Amino acid sequence: MAKGKILITGGTGYIGSHTVVELFNAGYEPIIIDNLSNSNISVLDGIKAITGHSVIYENIDCKDYNSLERFLEKHPEIVAIAHFAASKSVGESVENPLLYYRNNIVSLINLLQLMPKFGIKNIVFSSSCTVYGQPDVLPVTEKSPIKPATSPYGSTKQMCETILYDFTHANKDINVVLLRYFNPIGAHPSGEIGELPNGIPNNLLPYITQTAAGIRKELSVFGNDYDTPDGSCIRDYINVVDLAKAHVVALNRLIDGKNEKNIEVFNLGTGSGVSVLEIINAFEKATGVKVPYKIAPRRPGDIEKVWADTSLANKELGWSSKETLEDTLRSAWNWQKKLEEKNSVTNG
Ligand code: UFG
Repeated sequence: MAKGKILITGGTGYIGSHTVVELFNAGYEPIIIDNLSNSNISVLDGIKAITGHSVIYENIDCKDYNSLERFLEKHPEIVAIAHFAASKSVGESVENPLLYYRNNIVSLINLLQLMPKFGIKNIVFSSSCTVYGQPDVLPVTEKSPIKPATSPYGSTKQMCETILYDFTHANKDINVVLLRYFNPIGAHPSGEIGELPNGIPNNLLPYITQTAAGIRKELSVFGNDYDTPDGSCIRDYINVVDLAKAHVVALNRLIDGKNEKNIEVFNLGTGSGVSVLEIINAFEKATGVKVPYKIAPRRPGDIEKVWADTSLANKELGWSSKETLEDTLRSAWNWQKKLEEKNSVTNG
């Protein structure tokens, strides 16, 4: 008997799919809606291969209020929502801001509007360290100031947080956990699920694994003249399975009524900053595979350095990241190789 049904919006996406796996492992019954705008239906096979469960899935766009309502009517036992469905490319958001405002804001509003109607009281929301901009003091705590957003994507995350604060203020029986992710990387150790970027990757790790695999000629390191020890930017790279597990803990907390306020916010990172050049070195060391790279100009809009103070999540959620950077990088490489094998079978 499952512990409860959890609606996972964006459940075929990168972080959503890993969370689905961890929810099954924890005894929940996750059910997925996704419009496959940035994911692939084959992810469901990966989830089945890992967990043995065929997950309930429907192709629904969260912007479509009526479809969402019909879906919820069919599943009255949902006890909580983990809302991952959103567009997440910084560059794309600059080129097409309305797409981002519509996708990210309307989806959240629709879900919130339907929660009271269906007696759903708990929601975990995917926020981002992007809300801090370039912090004046490192590491950043949840109390660090929210800086003006540097992209429409960042704006949507800030606006969604505001919407959730206002909504919980007006609806005291709705409970929210906002999770501010730092940079999620890696894949499930089985290699059955991982990050599936569309086209040329924007993010560092998929670019590294594709370069190591020979799909890309070389990696461009965006800037080596930053005010950091080796001149390249610093981020807090968090293992995606560790991140997924944090969602299970947050959902447990809400479902068991252990939350102290009806809206809480937690940073999810490792607490350590790692530079781009350090990531390349660590990848080569962990996998034995070379990553050809060149130093390129700075990427507009990049933050120089950011990493998390994770003490609140450690204390309140009893959560901390466990996987080493080396194992995480190895998992990303394992996933890339498996993907190649699958593609060659399909294409050949
Ligand atoms: N980088 C390179 N070369 C590449 C890609 C990235 O040098 O080809 C560098 C970037 O300049 C940056 C670091 O690698 O210093 C990480 O870049 P990512 O694009 O992987 O990640 P970002 O930190 O830019 O963005 C991530 C998420 C966003 C989120 C943001 C918050 O992708 O969704 O963190 O800061 F908003």
